[in-house]
Amino acid sequence: MTYILGIETSCDETSAAVVKDGREVISNIIYSQIPIHREFGGVVPEIASRNHIIKIREIVDEAIKKANLKKEDLDAVAVTMGPGLVGSLLVGVNYAKAFSYSLGIPLIGVNHLDGHISSNYIAFKDLEPPFVALIVSGGHTHFYHVKGYGDYEEIGRTRDDALGEAFDKVARVLDLKYPGGPEIEKLAKNGDNNIVFPIVLLEKDSLDFSFSGIKSNVINYSRNNTFKKEDLACSFQECVFEIVKQKIIRASNQTGMKKIVIAGGVAANSRLREVLDGLDLEIKYPPLSLCTDNGAMIAASAYYKYLQKDYEDLTLNAVSNFCL
Ligand code: KG4
Ligand code: ZN
Repeated sequence: MTYILGIETSCDETSAAVVKDGREVISNIIYSQIPIHREFGGVVPEIASRNHIIKIREIVDEAIKKANLKKEDLDAVAVTMGPGLVGSLLVGVNYAKAFSYSLGIPLIGVNHLDGHISSNYIAFKDLEPPFVALIVSGGHTHFYHVKGYGDYEEIGRTRDDALGEAFDKVARVLDLKYPGGPEIEKLAKNGDNNIVFPIVLLEKDSLDFSFSGIKSNVINYSRNNTFKKEDLACSFQECVFEIVKQKIIRASNQTGMKKIVIAGGVAANSRLREVLDGLDLEIKYPPLSLCTDNGAMIAASAYYKYLQKDYEDLTLNAVSNFCL
């Protein structure tokens, strides 16, 4: 039995979790700073790092206590080393380094995006590569051909805004609170898809995305027209999810993969799940609680590095633009 402590502080969630054998969540404590950042309309990096410092010890202790374990029972400590806000990342990285040094257990550095993908290993116990992964979060929109554990080929990415970012920016225009994704989803439920925004698919074979033009279209429309907020939210959402659907079809055709794994905050959207439902593909999403940032996905991802003894030493540093 392997118990890994996973620590996540890349943005505005301070989270720690204990995961057994890479797939079984024993505890997963998430402290969200969203209410603190809401009054600024988005995450303020300096405030985020300060709050991670205040909370990290309590959250880690709680995760271990909730797991009914002692620190000495842990086999390794894993931490998000990037991508993310550098000040926020550094809090987790330094805490994990001290933790590993004091207990004499291995330290594992995890890529946040690998963490998001790995949340599906928790949800689907028999899920194994190869598959296509689509990450749709606040900071990233990336397609990967996952060929093995830790073996990724990037096959597409956004050329401008991440999908979650587009949701957050459109939400701002509609005077909705941060984060905008869940607010737009709620509003759209009572709206009609009656405003036409362009379905931007880029070049014929491209698996890249571009959401900034649509975002600007929505913003311009809102300035120059009278409309129901519900309809604008619905029309925007339908437009971007149609794009995601078309790109998933392309990605499947190009890679020959029928197994598609979706991850990241936007994967929590129930309309996205409906839109993709009819496709002749095996599409997997993490449970809602594992879509947004959490420590369990970090521990799950670290398990495969643990098996390979892919450890870090105390020179481990945060890498804000860390690629997979
Ligand atoms: O994965 P995540 O927690 O953090 C990053 O790594 O970025 O994703 C947060 C993003 C935010 O942009 C938020 O608006 C979006 O995910 N999001 C949603 C929903 N829930 C969260 N977007 C659309 N619909 C949702 N239900
Ligand atoms: Zn994330």
